[in-house]
Order: sequence, then C-alpha cells, then structure tokens
Amino acid sequence: MHDETAPMPPLFDWSFASDPYPAYAWLREHAPVRRTELPSGVEAWLVTRYADAREALADARLSKNPHHHSERGSHGKGKVGIPGERSANLMTHLLNIDPPDHTRLRRLVSKAFTPRRVAAFAPRVQELSDALIDSFAGRGEADLIHEYAFPLPIYAICDLLGVPSEDQDDFRSWAGMMIHQPGSPRGGVGRAVKKMRGYLAELIHRKRADLGDDLISGLIRASDHGEHLTEDEAAAMAFILLFAGFETTVNLIGNGTYALLRHPAQRRLLQDAVAAGDERLLAGAVEELLRYDGPVELATWRFATEPLTVGGQPIAAGDPVLVVLAAADRDPAKFADPDRLDLTRRDNQHLGYGHGIHYCLGAPLARLEGQTALATLLRRLPDLRLAADPEELRWRGGLIMRGLRTLPVEFTPVRE
Ligand code: HEM
Repeated sequence: MHDETAPMPPLFDWSFASDPYPAYAWLREHAPVRRTELPSGVEAWLVTRYADAREALADARLSKNPHHHSERGSHGKGKVGIPGERSANLMTHLLNIDPPDHTRLRRLVSKAFTPRRVAAFAPRVQELSDALIDSFAGRGEADLIHEYAFPLPIYAICDLLGVPSEDQDDFRSWAGMMIHQPGSPRGGVGRAVKKMRGYLAELIHRKRADLGDDLISGLIRASDHGEHLTEDEAAAMAFILLFAGFETTVNLIGNGTYALLRHPAQRRLLQDAVAAGDERLLAGAVEELLRYDGPVELATWRFATEPLTVGGQPIAAGDPVLVVLAAADRDPAKFADPDRLDLTRRDNQHLGYGHGIHYCLGAPLARLEGQTALATLLRRLPDLRLAADPEELRWRGGLIMRGLRTLPVEFTPVRE
C-alpha cells in the first residue's frame, strides 16, 4: 500500500518522549496508517495524517469496546483502561463507552457541567493561580511542574466537584502517586485510583442527603426525560472528570510554559499583550500551544467493529486503532509551517481536544485554567527563565499523555 521499505525511526524508545515529532513526520510521509507494536506488546494501527485522524475520530465503526467484535480481543482490559480499573461499573465512564449509553451519560453530565458553571468559576481559578505563585515567588526559583502546573488542576477540580478543602491534600497526594511525582511511592497508581474512587463514592452518598451548588450535587440532580445518573454512574463520572482533567491540564500548563520559554519572540508578544491588559491574543495562544505540543499525544483506544479502511489502508474487524493527535496537528497538509509556534495562527482547527462524540467535555475548563495559569505567570514573574539545559529535561511519556517531569525556572524574587 504505502512505502514501508524506508527505515522507520524508533518509536517509543527512551528518547522518544523528549521529541516524538521527527518519527511522526516520517510516519505521516511514509506509512500514515501503520500497524505497530506498542511497548506493552499489543499491536495497533497508528493514524498520523490530519484528514485520516479527523475521519477516524468521527467514525462510528470505531468503537470504544474492545470486545464488541467478540473473540479476537486478546488485549485485556488492564492494558487498555485506566490502571486499577477492574470491576465493570468503573468502566462505565464516557471515554470507554459507545452510543446509546454514551449519548445518555454525556447528555446528563452536560446538564451539570455547563459552560456557565465553568465561567462562574473563573475568579476561583485566578485566586488559586495567585496563591500558588505566592508560595514560591519570594524564592526566585521553582519547579513549575511540582509547584504550579500539578497542584492547580487538582485543587480546581476538587473545588468544582465540592470536595471539602480539608480533604483536598489527600487528592493531591493520590494524584501525585498517579503521575509519579517526586516523593510519591512508586507502583501506587492502582492504590491511588482505588482511594479516589472510594472517597468519591462516599462523598456522593453523603451529598445525596445534603445537596449544594457544587458539581457533584449537580450530577446527582441532573435529569433528562426523567432519567438520572445512578450512584455508581455519578461516582464514575466524578472520577473521569478528575482523571481526564488532571494530567492533561498539568501538561498544558507545563508544555505550554516550556514552549513559550523556548520561543522568546512569541513569549514577548504574549507577555506584552497580557501586561497591557489586552487578553485578546491569549485565547488563540493557548490553542496554538495545544496544537504545537498538546498534552494528549494519542487519543484513547478505538477498535474496528467491522472491516474498514482508514486512509486507504484496510483494517480488520477487532483491530485496535490509535489516532495520533500530536502527529495530525503537525500535518503540513493542514497547517502552514506546522513545526513553527505561531501564537497568532488563524483558523486553528487542531485536534488537541479530539473530535466527534468524545470531543473533550472539559475543554471550557481546560481553556480557563490554561489561559489563567499562563497569563498570571507571565504577568507576575515577567523575567521568568528556564533554569536547566533543555537537553537534560525529562519527559513523562505514557502512551496517551506527554509532559515534562520537572520544569526548573528562575526569576527575580518578588518581595511582598
Ligand atoms: C475527552 C483532551 C482537559 C474531561 C478528551 C479527549 C481529548 C481531551 C483529546 C478525547 C479523547 C478521545 O477521543 O479518545 C484534553 C486536553 C485537556 C483536557 C488537551 C487540557 C488541556 C479536560 C478537563 C476535563 C476533561 C479539565 C474535565 C474536568 C474530559 C472528558 C472526556 C474528555 C470527561 C471524555 C468525553 C467523552 O468521551 O464524551 N479530552 N482534555 N478534559 N475530556 Fe478532556
């Protein structure tokens, strides 16, 4: 079909996470739909061109259910799901299900998790960003992942959900275990997921008797034609909001800040606009940072329910398909000069939030957090600079997400 004789640069080796883009460019050019062995040993089709990626994400024949096609599924749940997920009711969250269940659950959650609720949350996100910066501003140096990008989304989601403030540090430490923050015990992912799930189930149970204005109460109240979420569904929903909205946002703030620090002219443009109180550039800038080095490298798993073709490549029923968002978003057939960071880029239809029925439910919150976090950082620490050799920075590359482990910076200390 395509020229598969040219040698492919190594995928998923130790250095891959620090710069996967040359390998993705090779795939786009030579083998845009390529069957590849993943580090777990599972084989999957990687889709790397923008047009194919967008089409695949909207194709109803690509299901979230690995067993839809029956017996072929040798890929066990443990390999494709969230670590620690085992029992059936934990699997019933949006990213793992197809219509009609997906349609029903998404409609219900959308009644509670509204753009209006997110907009009303803006002052709190601003307060959190400022408080975190206050905690290190006097020192003149910080690790922006550990001290800023990581705690911000955790506290934000906890507040939004209605987790009492005295319990939020537990979430911070469970979340740290999930992404192996320094100081967190290794191998604790399954345990952390279990603790969070247990906590949320109990919180939902308690809130049912005493509803408030928070999102969990909203999930309990939500109804559509007389239908409600069951307690299990509400717990799975609260968990997926946390899970889907946490590491993604850490990486948006981390990758975004790093990209700005590496592109001084672009950073200056944004910083001057923000300092002048002109935030028009900001929204477009965050979209471009998502396109240029987005947090979600590969969309979550999909499986062919019947034989089909993607980009002309036949795919057998049951085969897993992975859409490489990071490759599609650098496709020169879609984006002019795709490897250039251009904060003023127009008509930026990137796939960083996915596409189709699973399009990111949290995009309004992610945008709010990304825009607030970056603008506040540039405004308050105007001479922020990288305090490490870029070659030495370590990247965390799971299969799905990609982000920095640490981001050491320095700046003139701010004395109160
Ligand atoms: C789905 C990206 C933040 C909640 C998705 C998908 C992507 C994505 C690519 C689709 C995955 C697929 O089709 O396989 C991002 C990025 C974020 C972000 C880049 C941050 C910059 C958030 C936040 C929340 C959230 C803050 C919630 C608090 C969700 C949910 C889904 C989802 C619930 C599943 C939707 C469905 O299946 O219907 N996200 N996300 N995300 N995201 Fe986000």
